[in-house]
Amino acid sequence: MADIGSNPLKRPLPDGIVPEDLVARTEDRWLTVVLSMLGVMMAIIVVTGALHSLHPSSNVETIEPVTLHLGGEFAESNLGTAVEPGGSVTVRLVAEQYLFVPDCAQVPTDTPVKFRITSTDVIHGFLLPATNVNTMVVPGYIAEIRTVFSRPGVYVMPCNEFCGYGHHGMWARVKAVPRDQFPDLSPVERTSCAKQ
Ligand code: CUA
Repeated sequence: MADIGSNPLKRPLPDGIVPEDLVARTEDRWLTVVLSMLGVMMAIIVVTGALHSLHPSSNVETIEPVTLHLGGEFAESNLGTAVEPGGSVTVRLVAEQYLFVPDCAQVPTDTPVKFRITSTDVIHGFLLPATNVNTMVVPGYIAEIRTVFSRPGVYVMPCNEFCGYGHHGMWARVKAVPRDQFPDLSPVERTSCAKQ
């Protein structure tokens, strides 16, 4: 029966009471199981993050959400895709309840693409399935995320952060076109595939 040596009460335990050393052994086993589960989960996060270059955006840039439409980088005339001097492209988008502006971004394939996106109202999400693009869009901040589209096609861009009753209908598209079909833009020109 009970091992009186490890029993602090120094008297026989009544039936149904589990001896202390058995409790300690069981707790050790469960601790090992829980720690290994934690280890496996951490490993999955680190390995998938490294393989798919998923990372939280490191960009901390602030912007005044109330006046961003009045001028500067996120004025309507500056939204869409711009070609940078080195040949890479920058796509600027504004997220608001319940749409993205523009609602279709056009990008060339096999070209470094930088998305810069901000919100005018509440937190939205910016996700491109099957790419490394997945970020929150927080009012007051500019989210910046880089990717390369290796295949032409239309990528659906749903808002993946609950932002109100119209959240489920908030989505846009990214259209990746072969590099030679992408328009030759001057530094001040912007393009998009949004419906006019
Ligand atoms: Cu915007 Cu959900």
